[in-house]
Amino acid sequence: MGFDLPGLLAGRRGQGYELHARYLNPQLPRMLHAIGFDKVYERAEGAYLWDRDGNRYADFLAGFGVFGVGRGNPVVRQALHSVLDAELADMVQFDCALLPGLLAEKLLANADGLDRAYFCNSGTEAVEAALKFARYATGRKRILYCDHAFHGLTTGSLSVNGSQEFRRGFDPLLPDAVIPFGDLDALEKELRNGDVAGLIVEPVQGKGVHVVPPGFLAAASALLHDHGALLICDEVQTGIGRTGRFFAYQHDDVEPDIVTVAKALSGGFVPVGAALAKNWIFEKVYSSMDRVLVHDSTFGSNAAAMAAGLAALSVIEDEQLVSNAEQTGKLLRDVLQGMVEEYELLAEVRGQGLIIGMEFGKPRSLKLRTGWNMLQAARRGLFAQMVVVALFQNHRVLTQVSGDFMDVIKLLPPLTIGEAEVHLFRDAFAEVMRDAHKGSGLMWDFGRTLVRQAVTR
Ligand SMILES: Cc1ncc(COP(=O)(O)O)c(C=O)c1O
Repeated sequence: MGFDLPGLLAGRRGQGYELHARYLNPQLPRMLHAIGFDKVYERAEGAYLWDRDGNRYADFLAGFGVFGVGRGNPVVRQALHSVLDAELADMVQFDCALLPGLLAEKLLANADGLDRAYFCNSGTEAVEAALKFARYATGRKRILYCDHAFHGLTTGSLSVNGSQEFRRGFDPLLPDAVIPFGDLDALEKELRNGDVAGLIVEPVQGKGVHVVPPGFLAAASALLHDHGALLICDEVQTGIGRTGRFFAYQHDDVEPDIVTVAKALSGGFVPVGAALAKNWIFEKVYSSMDRVLVHDSTFGSNAAAMAAGLAALSVIEDEQLVSNAEQTGKLLRDVLQGMVEEYELLAEVRGQGLIIGMEFGKPRSLKLRTGWNMLQAARRGLFAQMVVVALFQNHRVLTQVSGDFMDVIKLLPPLTIGEAEVHLFRDAFAEVMRDAHKGSGLMWDFGRTLVRQAVTR
């Protein structure tokens, strides 16, 4: 007998929802049933998924940004086969393996002013490293973060989370302080206390898709440095080409002190994270041989993750995905922008490269205002949820609402998409908007179901 993965997958086909309901977070299958997202996917390639009935879905979510190089990328798959076949002496722990060195070299070549890399296994771990490095290097305790920020959900990262719905009930957190996104005056005021280690900021906030005002990062960096504090750019979502630059901070004239990456560096296969920092910060944290393991992670530099990362970066370079993200992102934003005039429920389109937010807002006409007000009264964000569900149910396009209590949907497709996917999305979204602007029909019936669920939960 022995272990037979294909046999296991075939024998238990379709039982995922049942097993999750029984053994894992029970709210996930409940939520997916409620919004009709309860599909059984059997295959994935590039920007598409296929369910067990052979239906194709366009993936404008990319696993929350993991699939920068597309799903099942053949170069990354080959690298993983090769690294297994190489039978490397992996995770010896007391050696200096080649692959982490090569990945650090490659990443840092794309990050002017940063000198060293620390590898871990997820975005939140990269943030934890950044927070600890900033505190130790400056000898200060307080980290500043922005309203609506999202940096992960472990306790340190949660301490710099800008949304109450994540924080509530997990106190006490670290003594950090929030400032409005992009507000230099608020930053300066906090810095005057003299106890700030650094500011952590997403150059494009994932929640709500807000792009940092031009010049903010450079001005913030100068202010922080004047007060002996550091600039940490969290590029877990925006890094590795997403915004049309290798790192999103490169849209501004700034060299952050610490940068975090994860998600797309995985090539879509092996969890990985990294904190990149200036040399002097590493010199302080790892100041003596005694302190060699003062911040470390057992799986941090494992060969599979490093090989996948190297392969992903090679695909990004060879297929020029950074400039594709810039160009295709602009095309998609322009197309959607053109719809703002046409559809009164669509208030704004914003973003950078291939992270795009579409915000809905109060309609002018009375016919639509009644339905809109009903949804708003029950819970903010339900209209955006209605759009996400309609895109999925009627057009097989996978997207997400960009955070709780926000009428914003977020597009985060693989960086490999081209005109075909832009047109596919445009057509689907236009039809959903046409339906929504009728003010009645199936879409609004579903809206009423969401309202009932919101008031009874
Ligand atoms: C900006 C940012 N930082 C950190 C994280 C946390 O990453 P992970 O889920 O890998 O812990 C995320 C995840 O969405 C993120 O978007």
